[in-house]
Amino acid sequence: MINNFSKYCASTQISTICTPLIQRSNQAFVVNNGNILRWRKSLETIKQQKAGKLNYAKPYLHIDTCINQATLQKSLENLIPWRKGPYQIGNLQVDSEWRGDMKWDRLSPYIRPLKNKTILDVGSGNGYFTYLMAMEGADIALGIEPFLLFNYQFQAIRCLIKDPPKAFVLPLSLEQMPDSQVFDTIFSMGVLYHQKKPLQHLHKLKNLLTKEGELVLETLIIDKKHGTQIIPKNRYAKMRNVYCLPSVELLQTWLTTAGFKAIKLVDINQTSFVEQCATRWIGDNAQSLQDFLNPDDINLTIEGLPAPRRALFICHKNV
Ligand SMILES: C[S@@+](CC[C@H](N)C(=O)[O-])C[C@H]1O[C@@H](n2cnc3c(N)ncnc32)[C@H](O)[C@@H]1O
Repeated sequence: MINNFSKYCASTQISTICTPLIQRSNQAFVVNNGNILRWRKSLETIKQQKAGKLNYAKPYLHIDTCINQATLQKSLENLIPWRKGPYQIGNLQVDSEWRGDMKWDRLSPYIRPLKNKTILDVGSGNGYFTYLMAMEGADIALGIEPFLLFNYQFQAIRCLIKDPPKAFVLPLSLEQMPDSQVFDTIFSMGVLYHQKKPLQHLHKLKNLLTKEGELVLETLIIDKKHGTQIIPKNRYAKMRNVYCLPSVELLQTWLTTAGFKAIKLVDINQTSFVEQCATRWIGDNAQSLQDFLNPDDINLTIEGLPAPRRALFICHKNV
């Protein structure tokens, strides 16, 4: 499942942590999940299709190939929900719930060039951004994503690419990463609010950065008129696992406490229906932003809390 990661990893800046990464990933794939047989079968069918060249034809990560559309569509539907993307394989458009290109547009003017760099993409989902990072010329772009389905989605896309870029996704959480200061740029996007201990998450990110390293942090925040933080009692925008929504000011304090320097807030964005919406690729009758907001006031969630706003911070380990 981890392709030629073992072979490639040995020749990169992360060579010292290859062995634990591979061992932990292999363990993660050996779980008792009732869906795995179906996902594996889909992957085997997808591997029969002709692979093609990958390019970024905004908003799509596009694979230029000739496929049997009906067969491929059925196999990819077995891997629903496609939250991140969008992808296009031949003429088949996999319109995911999220338009990843919009986040990429917001951050790319501000980050250091990724060429020849060693990159970590924490909570990479199916690797849409990990591919984009590798396509910028990174030496290696490693995505880590504990949710197994998204690892299968990454593999499904990867086996359709001829000469894939140096992007890999492993089924690991941030907490499972061996402490080693080997990454030049780390992306943590859409992950912090899912953590019960956000400061611990930030400390861990810092410990994985090289001395000159850069952190790209994207997460949900609230306007300070709502206070310093909101700790949702139950759900937030119907999500069960949102633990804390800080103000920008509190988030800056967290970053400083974790030891980051040169902290810059580069963007704040309220999630729109263009960026997040239900499509047939997340399943029939599946819900999305439209269902998570108050129908009479789209500035509030269905629970009456402020609607999702995301801040993008760039900061460094040293000045
Ligand atoms: C909201 S999605 C964001 C995906 C993508 N980074 C983006 O910005 O669109 C959050 C992802 O982080 C993963 N995740 C949550 N906690 C994590 C952790 N501790 N380590 C690594 N990934 C985590 C989840 O499984 C999920 O796929």
